[in-house]
Amino acid sequence: MLTAVIGGTGLTRLSGLEVKSQESVSNRWGDVSAPLVYGVLKGAEIVFLTRHGAGYNMPPHCINYRANIQALKDAGVGHIIAVNAVGGISQRMDTGVICIPDQIIDYSWGRKTTFFEGSEHPVFIDFTHPYDPGLRDALHKAAMQLDIPAEPGGVYGCTQGPRLETAAEIRRMEKDGCDIVGMTGMPEAVLAREAGIKYSVITLAVNRAAGKSDQEITMAAMQSMLQTGMEKICAIISEALSG
Ligand code: HPA
Repeated sequence: MLTAVIGGTGLTRLSGLEVKSQESVSNRWGDVSAPLVYGVLKGAEIVFLTRHGAGYNMPPHCINYRANIQALKDAGVGHIIAVNAVGGISQRMDTGVICIPDQIIDYSWGRKTTFFEGSEHPVFIDFTHPYDPGLRDALHKAAMQLDIPAEPGGVYGCTQGPRLETAAEIRRMEKDGCDIVGMTGMPEAVLAREAGIKYSVITLAVNRAAGKSDQEITMAAMQSMLQTGMEKICAIISEALSG
């Protein structure tokens, strides 16, 4: 079954991907963030989608998550590996740390969170474990194989953005058990579950979350973390796909 990689901040193209074709897609939910890029990564056929748009012009709350996941389902995707830049909340999630989270708490609001719109019967999907254990395992094993440290679990807190959080918001999230904070984890994960696609996430901490360091959080500092961190994440994904 085809695997998709969804790239986030700092991952608008996948290094090592031998591109075969590209396709701009719209569906009943609207326009997909960017053309679907079909290609081969370390021998594995994949499709790549950059969620913030090809020109990086779509903030987290404006992304059409439903159009994106529907397009991947229609393309025959059975597995998604999603990549997210995050802020580190817990001590072990220092800047530069890669994590394969196992849980998520959704603090976002006003987003279109379901495909079951207007259906006569409410559908209650099981979301106890939001991320696929097989995919998480493959990513973790790939990281170990490459000797790249990666946290094998953690709780992702998804905020609305596009502003960063206040220190008090981060303190509350920490009390709730969040280890990392990002803006795009939801509703992507739940839509993939509704679509019957196995889904997991690999994150890179590009800053300490608000109030967790004395330094101001700047885009420039985040950018400098992204370059080397995303190279490592690409290597882990390639290894996981070829394994
Ligand atoms: N908060 C929310 N989203 C983020 C952050 C953050 O600190 N860093 C990168 N994405």
